[in-house]
Formats: sequence, C-alpha cells, structure tokens
Amino acid sequence: MSVAVLLLLLGLGFVEADGRCLFNRTQEYCVCYHLSQETVSSIIQCLAASVVEFRGGELERYVAFPISDLDPSAIEMLGSLVIRKIILGDLLVPEILLARVLRFFSYTQVQELVFESCVFEGRGNWEEMANQDLPILSLHFHNVTSAPLTGREQDFSHLSGWLGTLQELAVTASHVTSLPCGIGKVFGALRSLDVAQNSLGDESLVSAFCSGAFPQLQVLRLQRNHLRSYHSVCESVQPLHGLQHLDLSQNKLMADPSSSCQWPASLRIFNLSNTGLDEVLSPLPPSLEVLDMSCNHLHAVDLSLHSLKKLFLSQNMLQAIPSIRNYPMLDTLHLDNNQMTELPWDEVKHLQDVSAAGNPYDCSCSGAGGLQALAAAGHLGQGWPQDYTCHLPPDYQGRLVEEVPVSVLRCNSAAVIAPVCVALILLGVAGAGYLAWSRPDLLRPCRRV
Ligand SMILES: *[C@@H]1O[C@H](CO)[C@@H](O)[C@H](O)[C@H]1NC(C)=O
Ligand SMILES: *[C@@H]1O[C@H](CO)[C@@H](O)[C@H](O)[C@H]1NC(C)=O
Ligand SMILES: *[C@@H]1O[C@H](CO)[C@@H](O)[C@H](O)[C@H]1NC(C)=O
Repeated sequence: MSVAVLLLLLGLGFVEADGRCLFNRTQEYCVCYHLSQETVSSIIQCLAASVVEFRGGELERYVAFPISDLDPSAIEMLGSLVIRKIILGDLLVPEILLARVLRFFSYTQVQELVFESCVFEGRGNWEEMANQDLPILSLHFHNVTSAPLTGREQDFSHLSGWLGTLQELAVTASHVTSLPCGIGKVFGALRSLDVAQNSLGDESLVSAFCSGAFPQLQVLRLQRNHLRSYHSVCESVQPLHGLQHLDLSQNKLMADPSSSCQWPASLRIFNLSNTGLDEVLSPLPPSLEVLDMSCNHLHAVDLSLHSLKKLFLSQNMLQAIPSIRNYPMLDTLHLDNNQMTELPWDEVKHLQDVSAAGNPYDCSCSGAGGLQALAAAGHLGQGWPQDYTCHLPPDYQGRLVEEVPVSVLRCNSAAVIAPVCVALILLGVAGAGYLAWSRPDLLRPCRRV
C-alpha cells in the first residue's frame, strides 16, 4: 500500500517547508505541521493516535494526483486504524480533491471531521458520493470560506446518503447568510446544529427551518448572528418540535410584548444572554430547566417556572433577588454585578450554587451576616471573598463583606433604640426623685436618637 495514498486519504498538505508530526501518547493526539514528502516517515507514528491534526500546507498540487480504487490490503489497513477524529487547519482545500478522497473514509472509523481556517476552492464532482455511507457523524467547519451554498441542491442530493445520517454539524464564523430550505431537509438525523458567529438574519431563519427541515434537531446555536426580532425567531423555530437547547445569545433582539409566540414546548435550555432585553418575555416553555438571561437590562424578574434548575441573571440591574418560591427545583442562581443591597440568606440557603459578587451591599445589617453564613456553608462561588464589598454604611464602604464584624447592634435600629430608651427611662425613674427635688427643668421624655 502506498503511503502517499494513505496520506492523501488523510487530507494531508505537503509543502516544501520542514514539517514534522508530534505525538502525545497520553492524549493519543498527533499534530503535524507542514509535512513534506521527505518527513513522511514522521506521520507513521500518528497512526496510533485517536486524534490527528494537520496544520498548514496546500493540497492544490495534488488535484491531478491519480487516486485509484484501493486494493484489499489498503482497505484492511484503513479499517484497523484507531483514528476517530481528524482536524485540518490552515489549508487550501480544492473541493474536487475532497470529493474524491472523502469516499475512502468509508473504510475508516473516523467519526469526527473538523476544518478550521480552510479555504475551499472550486466545485467538486460529488456524483461518486451518491449512496456512500461514511462513518463520520460529526462535521465541523470553523472560519472557512467556500462558494455559496445556494444553488447547490444537486451536490447535496449526491451527498444525502451520508448527510442524512450526520448527527452534528457546525459551521461557525464563516459568513453564512442563509441556509436554504432544501438543505435542512437533507439532514434528517441531525441532532445538533451550530451556526454561531455568522450573518444569519430573521429572514434567513424562516427558510432555514421550513417545514420538514432538520426534523430531529435538539440543539440549535445561533449565538452572535444578525437576529433582531425576538418574536420572528420564535416563530421560525416553532416547527422544531424536539428542540431542547436554544442559544440566541449575543444577538441584539427587539421584543414586541403584545405578541405571545410559544417556543417549542420541548425546550430545556434557553440562552438569552447579552440580547439587549429589558424584560423577561412570557410565555416561556414550562419545562425549562436552564435559563440564561445574564448581561441584559433587567430591572426585575417575575417568572414562575416549576422545572427551572439554573437561573443566570448576572450583569443586570436587579435590586432584589427574584422570588425563589416560584422555582421549587432551583439549585443554581447567579446574580453577580447587579444593584442588590442584600442577599436574603433565608431564601437562598438551600441552593447549591449562588453567586452574587459585585453588588453594592449594605453591610449595616443582616446582609453581611447572611453572606458570611452562605460562604461558610460553601455555597458561594469563586468570587468570595474578594469580589463582595460593602457599599453602605459609609464607614464600611469599600471594605470586604467578609471583614465586617456582624454584631446585632449594627443590624436593627429598632432593636437597638428600644433597650436604650428603656435603660434611660429606668435611670430617669431612679434619678427622678433627686432631679425633681433639685432641677425640675431637666426632665425630658425619651426621644429616638
Ligand atoms: C501530553 O499532554 C499532557 C496533557 O495535556 C501534557 O501534560 C504533556 O506534557 C504532553 N506531553 C507531551 C510530550 O507533549
Ligand atoms: C480565518 O482563516 C483565514 C484563512 O482563511 C486566516 O487567515 C485567519 O487568520 C483566520 N482567522 C482566525 C480568527 O482564525
Ligand atoms: C450563554 O451564552 C453565553 C455567551 O454566548 C455563554 O458565555 C454562556 O456560558 C451561555 N450560558 C449557558 C447556560 O450555557
């Protein structure tokens, strides 16, 4: 079996520069930089790795390389490789070569294929891929450039045998502006679609999730795109009946409070972090377990979600914690960098993970004591003690909450004033006889100090 064919199968880039492979046996990870034909022996060690990464080079000069069908010994060899994941980075990939090489993956056990910072050139002939089954279940593209997907329905139909079995697809940071309806219909088994950091707008979502597209989708990541309308997004994803995890973070969303679009009832994890929202919009799916609304402009949170386990509300403008009674299953509550002056210990003491650093705490009362008790019980996150400071009273401003001596005298002014008054009254009564006798004009009723 010719090593050159094997290398080609692995999608290697040969360049003149000195290249070599480094194999980390503990991690079963092999990374090859700018392999040249002279250092080909270096790649042999990678054959024992489960993850192989190739960085740099160009495949263009191999476009004309004759790739014939494999002989049985080569097929057997490919089948015995333990490589599960291949990462191709910083490469120029002629699509025509990819189309010819990809079908040989059917003899391997490679389940994950990743392209990072690659440029796909030209158009391949995908006919040979018709009816091919590949073991690849997960396909990732990050920061790649290729010809637009529009108008390539024919190519996708040749690939449909394989794409129809794919479980995970990520196309991130690659200037994607649309996902034609027909493409979604090819991905019949896809469970996770990550299209974060692209240029998808509200309109493109409508066609992307047309009826029959991505019927098995459970995870959808739309983080950092050009989405604008909360309700338009809601309506677009409504046909995804099995959707469990939706990430809309880092889009600047506008909401129309009068609309009442229902998110898929299957939703469990909803990320609305950093979306510019100034209120929590209802209805939210009742079975929600994780809600991230951090980095918004919320002044109050008035929700009732009976399955909610984790609520992330850091970096908002909350002056008080949400009513915990409305979340009987809650175990995690993050409230860092809000406007709260206290964290009521009674309400949050049963939670496993509370964090509320960077709030302007009033340390004059039970505020400091409650926080200290939470910290002592190990419930406060990593910000304790360094990020919990007092804002009030003035003589404690800027001091760590941890350092505040919690004495009942600083806590409840009514509790302090009452005994002082009583003491004064008793003193007064005792001294009244003497005073009444000597200086009647000094008698005064007890006044609050
Ligand atoms: C292999 O990876 C482990 C874990 O990251 C690391 O500690 C070790 O130094 C690496 N070995 C080599 C030879 O790079
Ligand atoms: C994205 O890929 C291009 C090559 O296509 C590369 O020059 C650039 O550095 C990559 N950008 C990042 C952020 O990795
Ligand atoms: C939500 O998205 C933000 C940023 O996109 C990320 O940092 C955060 O971890 C996500 N939250 C959850 C609960 O996954």
